[in-house]
Amino acid sequence: MTEKLELYKCNVCGNLVQVILPGEGELVCCGEPMELLNPQTEEEGKTEKHVPVFIKQNENEEIIQVGSIPHPMEESHYIMFIEAISDDKNRLELKYLYPQEESKMFIKEGGERVCALEYCNLHGLWEGKSD
Ligand SMILES: [Fe+2]
Repeated sequence: MTEKLELYKCNVCGNLVQVILPGEGELVCCGEPMELLNPQTEEEGKTEKHVPVFIKQNENEEIIQVGSIPHPMEESHYIMFIEAISDDKNRLELKYLYPQEESKMFIKEGGERVCALEYCNLHGLWEGKSD
């Protein structure tokens, strides 16, 4: 049984999938059950920071930045994507990122609470919420 917008990873081939509409079945890849990714929400004393933070730009726009100090974006260690998900899970915005880019995305400020997810190629999935 899956739930809407859960992320599952195949630890054999690296496939990472997101549930658009949930179903009863178990997700399997390369002959093995896929691993449900549970986002981390607390920094653990690493030098680089991962929890997404929201920075208001103006009345209409906010930045989701990965880490209170921007996360590195090097070939060997970088943020692969950021997602902004509305509190009711009815709206999703996804931005893929690549090395050398900034570890952030712009979103429209709609007055509703937003959950941000980000995925680091070395340190996995992290979550932060807007106020
Ligand atoms: Fe990282």
